[in-house]
Amino acid sequence: MNYFDVFPRWNIIPVKALGCKVYDKDGNEYLDFYGGHAVISIGHSHPKYVERISEQVSQLGFYSNSVIMPLQDEYAEKLGKASGYPDYSLFMVNTGAEANENALKLASFYNKRKKVVAFQHSFHGRTAAAVRVTDIPKYWAPMNDDLEVAFVPWNDIEAVRKELKQGDVSSVIIEGIQGIGGIIVPDPAFLVELRQICTETDTVLILDEIQSGYGRTGKFFAHQFAGIRPDIITIAKGMGNGFPISGVLISPKFEAVYGQLGTTFGGNPLACAAAIAVLDVMNEEKLVENAAKVGQYLMDELKKIPEIKEVRGHGLMIGIEFAEPVKPLRDKLLFDEKVFTGATGTHVFRLLPPLCVTKEIAGDFLARFKKVLP
Ligand SMILES: Cc1ncc(COP(=O)(O)O)c(C=O)c1O
Repeated sequence: MNYFDVFPRWNIIPVKALGCKVYDKDGNEYLDFYGGHAVISIGHSHPKYVERISEQVSQLGFYSNSVIMPLQDEYAEKLGKASGYPDYSLFMVNTGAEANENALKLASFYNKRKKVVAFQHSFHGRTAAAVRVTDIPKYWAPMNDDLEVAFVPWNDIEAVRKELKQGDVSSVIIEGIQGIGGIIVPDPAFLVELRQICTETDTVLILDEIQSGYGRTGKFFAHQFAGIRPDIITIAKGMGNGFPISGVLISPKFEAVYGQLGTTFGGNPLACAAAIAVLDVMNEEKLVENAAKVGQYLMDELKKIPEIKEVRGHGLMIGIEFAEPVKPLRDKLLFDEKVFTGATGTHVFRLLPPLCVTKEIAGDFLARFKKVLP
């Protein structure tokens, strides 16, 4: 059987990884400034993470959600403290798209409305509702047409107001920082007004923090730069440092109703063990503070490079825009200088290194990056 060929892939076979480094089958060492697509938070193969998951699988690898799983409560309590949302509830699933799917459904159960407002250039995942609120029409299948979605321009509060004043919008979904859209940071004043209009119209405000959350920006959540509190927050990626796990943080105004949401694998013991280990390490090694510090250093240094058109982002979620397409530079960086980076669109590099990256490693990255510049 062949693997269904829906991803373009680099001809690299990684076999091992440690911290911010990845090693391929030929023994080449790569600097990981992509974090396996923003997933690696505490660093590859962190010993405490490996130990915690190994111990858990030797005790209880899985049981269904029909029994009590104290690990879920232990994790939820730690997450509440770390994130600043101790009064919210947690529902766990497995992927980012699923977290958004459940968030959108929960909003619709709550206010019995159907329509969703999303933003131009958004990305929220590939399941039915998540893909429909993603502003990339080529990802929609004909069956996705039924969900009514209005895409409004980024930071355009009047466009949002116009949609919400009809009173038929169930939820507004927005990324903490647009990732695939190009590392686009929202204006904090816009988020404050958005929060206000959603409250006035009883529209549910969903913050997709799947890429921008979990400490990556130097705050636990990117929306915390604006000081707002969404009704629902979705998380995934860095949460499990590679173990598939995602979550929906739910404000106390939502009532939990048996049967409305469900999952086989969500919140399983291995996923909880992974997520607990990640939060423990983030806490012990002060990785959110580190993301702020090293991210600022990287952005300051990148802004000094004249070939770059613009540097955007917060912490370790950084977009570097060039006037020309970046593919040739990115390939050179990967194959000649052995550095993984992300990209969005044709002109923007996306840096998403593990949150444990040091200033020294960041300096190494900058030296290699400068080597490939035109
Ligand atoms: C902002 C955002 N939302 C949702 C998703 C979907 O996550 P997943 O691929 O785990 O379903 C992604 C993935 O890149 C993302 O960046």
